Amino acid sequence: MSDSYENPISFPVNLEDIEALVYQRIIDLGHPERKDGWTHRQGGVETGSTWRRAQEIYRSIGLRSRMINSLEYNSLHIGSMFAGQAISLPISAAPMVSGINFVCEKPFEQIARAAARLNVAAGIGYPSGVTVYSGMASLAKTFRIIKPAPQRERLVKELKESFAGGCCAAGIDIDSIGGMKPVGDEVRFAELVRPYGKDELKDIRKEVPGKFILKGVMSAKDALDAVEIGADVIVVSTHVGYCLDYSPAPLEVLPEIKAVVGNKAEIVVDSGITRGTDIIKAIALGADSVLIGRLTLWGLLLDGADGVIHMFRRLEAELRRAMILMGVSSLKDLSPRNLCPLDEKGERLLGKCEQVN
Ligand SMILES: Cc1cc2nc3c(=O)[nH]c(=O)nc-3n(C[C@H](O)[C@H](O)[C@H](O)COP(=O)(O)O)c2cc1C
Repeated sequence: MSDSYENPISFPVNLEDIEALVYQRIIDLGHPERKDGWTHRQGGVETGSTWRRAQEIYRSIGLRSRMINSLEYNSLHIGSMFAGQAISLPISAAPMVSGINFVCEKPFEQIARAAARLNVAAGIGYPSGVTVYSGMASLAKTFRIIKPAPQRERLVKELKESFAGGCCAAGIDIDSIGGMKPVGDEVRFAELVRPYGKDELKDIRKEVPGKFILKGVMSAKDALDAVEIGADVIVVSTHVGYCLDYSPAPLEVLPEIKAVVGNKAEIVVDSGITRGTDIIKAIALGADSVLIGRLTLWGLLLDGADGVIHMFRRLEAELRRAMILMGVSSLKDLSPRNLCPLDEKGERLLGKCEQVN
C-alpha cells in the first residue's frame, strides 16, 4: 500500500460479502426500500436497461497479461488529475445528495475526511447548503455539481457560491434535465430542472470563476459542444442509470468522446464501477480518472470515513495487482492495446477504438 493505512480486520474483503453486510445495515436502519435504489443488483430508470448495460460492458472486455516483468507493487504510477489538481489515486467520490443522509452521522464530512486521507477529490450534489459544502472544502479538494435549475440566475449564483465556499471546481449535471427515475417509472425532481442550449451554457461558463464541469456527457456531439462551451472536466456518466433508458454504457461512448476531446478537457467516467479492473478498462479507453458513487455509500454505511477509505483502498489494491499482472507501470501507458474482447459486445467496442484511432 502507498501509505500506512491497513485494512481493519473487521471489514470483509470480498465485494459480495460487503454487499451482504450493506443490505443488512440498510434493513437494520429501517430503510429496506433503499436496498434496490442504490445497490448493484437492480434498479435504474424504467426497464433498467441502462443500469444493466454498464455492468455487462465492463464484463465484455478482457485484460491482456504480461507476466514477465520486474514491476514493484509500491512503485506503480497510479496518480492522476482532477480539475487540474493532482490526486494520488485515479478515483474520486462522486457527487451525491438524496438518499445519503441516513447512512451515517455527517456523511459529507466523512466523505471529505476520507478524500483528504486518500488525497482524492470529493464531490457533492444538489441541493446542498453552504455550511455543508464549505465544510467539506475546508477538509478536502471538493467539487460541487448543481442541477440545471429553471432559473438561470439561480444556477449561476449557486455555481459562483461554490467557489466562494472553497470548492476547487463546480458544474452542472446536464443529464438531469428530464428529472430522475432512480427505480422504475416514478420521476423525481422534474420541476427543479430544464434543458440549457449551447449558447446559454457558454454564457454561464463565462460567469464561473474556476474549473467548470459538465456531467452526463454521453455522445461525441455533446463532448464537442462541452469543449466549445469551455468545460474543463467532462464526466461520461449515465448517472447510475437514473436518466435515459436504453443508454449505451459509458465505456461504449468513451472512445468516440476521447477522439474528439483529446487533451482539451479532462475525461472522467462513472456508473457501474465496482472493481479496480473496471478502472483500468476506463482509463485504457480514454478516461483520466473515475468517480465512485454507490461504493462510497457502502463505505459510509460500513463505517463512515474509515469505511470509504476501505472501499477506495480495496479498489486501489485490485488496480495495483492487475497492473503488475498486465506489466503496466503507469496508468498513462494504458491504451486499448491492453484490452481484448471477451464476447461480441467487447469485440464491437474494441473494433470502434481501431476505427477512431
Ligand atoms: C444516492 C445517490 C445520489 C446521487 N446524487 C447525485 C447528485 O445530486 N448529483 C449528481 O450529479 N449525481 C448524483 N448521483 C450520481 C453520482 O454522482 C454518480 O454519477 C454515480 O453514482 C456513479 O455510479 P456508481 O454509483 O455506479 O458508482 C447520485 C448517485 C447516488 C447513488
